[in-house]
Parts: sequence; C-alpha cells; structure tokens
Amino acid sequence: MKPLTNKHILLGVSGSISAYKAPDIIRRLQDLGAKVQVILTQGGAKFITEHALQSISQNQVHSNLWDKKAELAMGHIQLAKWADLILIAPTSANTLANIASGKACDLLSSVILASAAPLIIAPAMNQQMFKSNAVSGNLKTIASRNITIISPDDGAQACGDIGPGRLADANNIAAIVAQQFHTTELTGKNILITLGASVEAIDPVRYISNHSSGKMGMALVNNCIELGASVTCIYANIQTELNQRASNIQALSAKKMHKAVMENISKQDIFISCAAVADFSPKNIAKDKIKKNADDLKLILKPNPDILQDVCKLPKKPLTIGFAAETKNPLENAKLKLKNKGCDAIILNDVSGADFGLNVDENEVVFLSQNYQQKIAKTSKQKIAKKILEIFIRKFL
Ligand code: PMT
Repeated sequence: MKPLTNKHILLGVSGSISAYKAPDIIRRLQDLGAKVQVILTQGGAKFITEHALQSISQNQVHSNLWDKKAELAMGHIQLAKWADLILIAPTSANTLANIASGKACDLLSSVILASAAPLIIAPAMNQQMFKSNAVSGNLKTIASRNITIISPDDGAQACGDIGPGRLADANNIAAIVAQQFHTTELTGKNILITLGASVEAIDPVRYISNHSSGKMGMALVNNCIELGASVTCIYANIQTELNQRASNIQALSAKKMHKAVMENISKQDIFISCAAVADFSPKNIAKDKIKKNADDLKLILKPNPDILQDVCKLPKKPLTIGFAAETKNPLENAKLKLKNKGCDAIILNDVSGADFGLNVDENEVVFLSQNYQQKIAKTSKQKIAKKILEIFIRKFL
C-alpha cells in the first residue's frame, strides 16, 4: 500500500525561483498516493503559472483570500479542514516571516492559522538571505512550534551565488511528508458505513423514525479515515456533524438507503451497517395530511428491504460488520442476527438503558463473530469505534 493513499496534502507555493520545481513535488506526492491541492501566493505566481499547477494537481489552484465565490462557503476554512498535512515548498523569506509572526495577510497564511493539520516547510531563497539574522530568528521561532523544517540544500543558486538556500530535492520532500503518516491495515481500503435513523413517511407531514443520532456511525467514519481508509458515508437522519473527508450521501428512508448502498457496494472492501433502519414502512404514503376525524387510525406497514442481509448475499460480498440493537435477551438475539444476516461480525448494542446506546455520547458493546466474543466496556463512542476496528483488523485482515 502506498504510504500517502487517500491523504490530502495542501501544497503552498510561495515566491522563490524554485517554485518552478513545484510540479515535480506534486508528482512525487501523487506517486505515493496523495491527493494534492495547491495554494499559490502572489510571489509564487511570478515564478510558476496557475495553469501548470492546475494541470499537474488535477485540481483548481487557490490563490485569493478575497475570492467572493469561494469565501461564500468560507473557502479558507474548508481548505484548512480538507488538509491532512500542509506542505509549503518552496517557503520564501516573506512567507516564513508571515508564519513566524502568525499573520493572516493572504490565503496561505490564513489557512495555516485555521488548520489543525501538521505543517512542513521547505525554505528556499538566496544564501545570504537564508543566513540573515531575521530569517534565522524566524526559523528558530517556527522550530519551537513543532513545525517540521526541511533544510535547503547547499550549492549553486539561480542568482549565481553558492551556499545554502536551494530547495531540497523533491523525492526527499515527498519522503519526509510520507514519514508523517503511519500506514495501517485500513490504509487504502474502501469502507462504506451507514448511520442514523431512517425516516419513513406516513403523509407529507408525519413520519416513523427512531432515536438514533448517527454518533456511533460517525465515530466509525472518523476512525476509519484516521486509519487511512477511503470512506463512503450513507446517512439518514443524524444529529452529528458530517466528516468532510468522507464521500457523503444522504438517504433518508430504508428503500433509498438500500438503493444508495447497492449502487456503491461493488468497490467496497468493508461494509459497516450502523444505521438504525426501520424494518417496516407504511404501505401507502397519504398524498395529503391525514385528518384527525376518525377514532382509530390504521396504518398498514410492509417490510422494508434488509440492506445488511442483501449485501451479505452478494456473490462478491465485502467483509461486513452489522449492529444489533437489543432490549431483551441481547446476546442470544445478537448471535441469531449474526447467523441470519450472514455478516462476518456483529456489534451487540444493548439499548435497554438510557445511559448508553441511542442518542448519547457513550456506549458499551460486545464484539461478536462466529468464534469470538469480546465486551468493550462503557466509554466514548470515538473510543468504542477505535476498539471495534482494532478487533476487526486483528481477526479479519
Ligand atoms: O446513532 P446513535 O445514537 O449513536 O446510536 C447507535 C445505535 C444504537 C443506533 C447503533 O449502535 C446500532 O445499534 N445500530 C443498529 C440499529 C439497528 O437497527 O439494529 P437492528 O438490530 O434492528 O438491525 C440489525 C442490523 O441490520 C443493523 O446492522 C442494521 O443496520 C441492519 N438493518 C436492519 C434493518 C434493515 N431493514 N436493514 C438493515 O440493514
């Protein structure tokens, strides 16, 4: 597996003659599996064109903090969240000073401040500039902030000088970026996760649903992404924030979720069915709001397709993890579901109490497979998800 598979690298290109090497850096990062987007500073644009960077990165190049269209959607915040790592290569003396003093004077410096992603800088400038007290001082400040500095090479410079200041080799830069990530058994795997409460319409106003918030499923999405997987998240009604690094598809009803899952399942390595899907839905959805003029209202319900079971029946089925939300005879019922649905593992979720399970931040579950059982004690859903994946990786990958 390539070390940067599915990793989002945001490359800042600032004003140095060595900006002409940026396409090579993009290629080396892509060779290692990365997806690359570029921010080009005003100075950088004097040495390399937006078109060249766009063609190589296969993405629109970002350069303007005040771009009206992008900033409508808070473009600089979106870029900051998109990045798994920010690399600035080349880093000019001016960009270095902006970073050292925490300025937000252009798109690149604003994104750096707005991002929690690790930052790597590769300075490149004239050897005398590099040796100056101001640049040395800025480098010291930056080093104290846990920012990785890739030292420039020593040698002949474009200006005719000889000394330190040449941009480090593109292969070395890409290798140092790759070192920041550890590969796991999920790196590069395609994982489809369903989550949230399905919504079954009764009439244009009312519906049948349940208390699932989507928090457990989203914790799995976050952890899978953290472990390097490429995640498709199919969600119904949720009370939690989507992860923008997943490919997110909304499907509110069981039928719609079934369709969305089947349309996306062929390329998946793993399917995790965490959604609380209604087993039944109204046979007919009333066209108009039902009036309250009758004493009793009879709703005829028909069974919904069973998404998990249908995935497990596929001739080329992915590895599958189901969930079993139970209130009575939990272990017995979960074991039955594991067998009947045909999944590789099932996570028993006792939802009889209010303390954990539905619509809260904590959970307590039992991991079950044909010949294995392990309880995961009450803790946050993020930690439960991490533990579920650890056991699954150990048992199945
Ligand atoms: O969303 P939260 O508030 O964080 O709560 C998490 C949770 C309790 C909803 C979650 O941990 C959980 O248990 N999800 C499964 C709930 C459920 O529908 O369980 P079930 O026992 O009814 O279904 C068994 C399995 O079949 C599940 O994997 C379910 O996704 C799947 N199923 C069910 C019905 C159906 N028509 N299609 C399905 O695929």
